[in-house]
Amino acid sequence: MLKIHIITPFPDFLVPILQQSMLKKSVERNKVEYNIINLFDFLNDKDSRIDDYPYGGGEGMIMKIKPIFKAFDSISLNNPRVIFPTPDGQLFNQKMAFDLSEEKEIVFICGHYKGIDQRVRDSLVTDEVSIGDYVLTNGEIPSLVIIDSIIRLIPGVLNDYKSAEKDSFFDDLLDGPHYTRPKEYKDLKVPDILLSGNHDKIKEWFLKKRLDKTTTRRKDLLKKYKLKNSGEKK
Ligand code: 6GU
Repeated sequence: MLKIHIITPFPDFLVPILQQSMLKKSVERNKVEYNIINLFDFLNDKDSRIDDYPYGGGEGMIMKIKPIFKAFDSISLNNPRVIFPTPDGQLFNQKMAFDLSEEKEIVFICGHYKGIDQRVRDSLVTDEVSIGDYVLTNGEIPSLVIIDSIIRLIPGVLNDYKSAEKDSFFDDLLDGPHYTRPKEYKDLKVPDILLSGNHDKIKEWFLKKRLDKTTTRRKDLLKKYKLKNSGEKK
């Protein structure tokens, strides 16, 4: 069972999505538990805001240290990974998703505004993660992206774990094309080879499609794939 705590000023951003599809099924299948912590529950009268102006000046508001620490200290934790999604974090990838899918307890701290007090990052956060080279307005969306990628790798969450193994990035090639019934719709046909029943040829065809797509879209992945596969043959 993986326990996922999410500290957020906007629980409504997360809750409806965690109640859908595989994110919900992972809970029903007793593989995951979500604990949403509303940052606004950790304010007191003197401290009526979760954000404040930055020391030293500059643009934008900074999330305050105290509510985040109080929220964090309210959870009883057992050696968790603490993830802070941020565009200046380490670029997230499938390997990191795998690594996290083996954890027992993960905390997400969702940032807003210009950022959070650096002391939170220095003393609570274990992993600073970016989901790509672009900037979002909040940490909830990247948290959901990361959570979705993690939970689908926990055995027993997906109906067909094998399909996770064949995913793009699992072995450094992009996924190939897929078809299902009918064989023909308008003038759009399923490739003959897939109807041939020749499983070796089909496997070869599928690998070629994956190689072609990876060559045109992701030369960086192709290089990695070739290196890995030439190494294995030696
Ligand atoms: Cl993790 N956060 C925000 N705010 N923007 C991002 C991101 C994270 N990753 C890419 N852009």
